[in-house]
Amino acid sequence: MSGLALKGSIKDDSLPIVPNAGIWIEHGFIKSIDTYQTLKKKVPLAATEIMYLEKDYVGLPGFVDAHTHICYAGTRAQDYALRNAGKSYLEIAKAGGGIWDTVTQTRKASETTLIKGIIQRAKRHLMDGITTIEVKSGYGLSVTEELKMLRAIKEANSQIETDLIATCLAAHTFPKDYRGNISDYVEEMTAHLFPLLKEERLTNRVDAFIEEGAFSNKVITPYFEKAQEMGFDITVHADQFSTGGSEVAVNFKAVSADHLEVSSNKEISLLAKSNVIATALPGASIGLGCSFTPARKILDAGGALAIASDWNPGSAPMGNLVAQAAMLGTFQKLTNAEVFAGITFRAAAALNKKDRGRLEVGCMGDIVAYPGADYREILYQQGSLKPSMVWKKGQLIS
Ligand code: NIG
Ligand code: FE
Repeated sequence: MSGLALKGSIKDDSLPIVPNAGIWIEHGFIKSIDTYQTLKKKVPLAATEIMYLEKDYVGLPGFVDAHTHICYAGTRAQDYALRNAGKSYLEIAKAGGGIWDTVTQTRKASETTLIKGIIQRAKRHLMDGITTIEVKSGYGLSVTEELKMLRAIKEANSQIETDLIATCLAAHTFPKDYRGNISDYVEEMTAHLFPLLKEERLTNRVDAFIEEGAFSNKVITPYFEKAQEMGFDITVHADQFSTGGSEVAVNFKAVSADHLEVSSNKEISLLAKSNVIATALPGASIGLGCSFTPARKILDAGGALAIASDWNPGSAPMGNLVAQAAMLGTFQKLTNAEVFAGITFRAAAALNKKDRGRLEVGCMGDIVAYPGADYREILYQQGSLKPSMVWKKGQLIS
């Protein structure tokens, strides 16, 4: 991924492939990459542990899943059955199911139970080569319960090798038990939750679900104004069922606008002209049976496309990032390079991280190795070819 542009389309033949490569990692970061023979001459052999791989492997930067909700309790198999029997996601939510159902189940769970769930899911992701995972709150929806989720994410992060990047999604849906109106709720979150996020160093990212039936542009404005004022990075659930969210993302100079299933040419061109990363969530399209994000159009317009799993119990229960990214590639006609860019350095940019997502000097030694000599086998097998090895900051962990 080294040297590839952050925005726009990428041809496969522009992938900078190093045959017979060696990677020199020091203190967890890449110090040099070259052919093994050249690198061997540079490395102080006595002070270096060399792991020499006899067989052919393809090495890629460890994958980044820039949008998940893997901190939750319970299941929504009931919703899935109802949707497939004809009810819509928004209808189920209106009737008291949907996100609110998971809020009820997550509130009942202890912090320890949440930590266990996160770790279990992150470990499964690690076997698929994912070394950085963004994890949202948003199933707490009160100061206390949002804090419980974010503390669970922080604690889980300290117990595993994978980096978990937390995001506060206090504006996920309007809590049914809130005594007051939706603007009062938003004000309570900004006034009482935001300062604690800083104080306890729980996150520097704030998210909202902008949608009919969730939060309108108008209601969410003071929430993002406050977040911006306090120095949080902003990210938005945008244009999933109706448009409007991507415009808010651009106006607030968000790091990313995610979903975008119904974005039209107007929103695509707005995003492409901005520095907002457009994050497609094919797992939500597959989980809900909806159309895919117009990824091809976004890239052709010059936009920056990341691809994330959205792993959550409702809209995207599958959670298999590589399989989903490969499927988005087939339906949207994305090159291998564009799909890999979407789950590596472009996904890292959606998290405002420059230290990962590329195998180049200065980046973390996060590497995933697949068996075989042809990188095209990976997406061709649509998630069923599994990595042979995964390194996090230079340590072999899987
Ligand atoms: O990104 N769209 C809103 N939020 C999540 C779904 C959460 C849920 O259904 O539990 C999403 O798809
Ligand atoms: Fe989401």
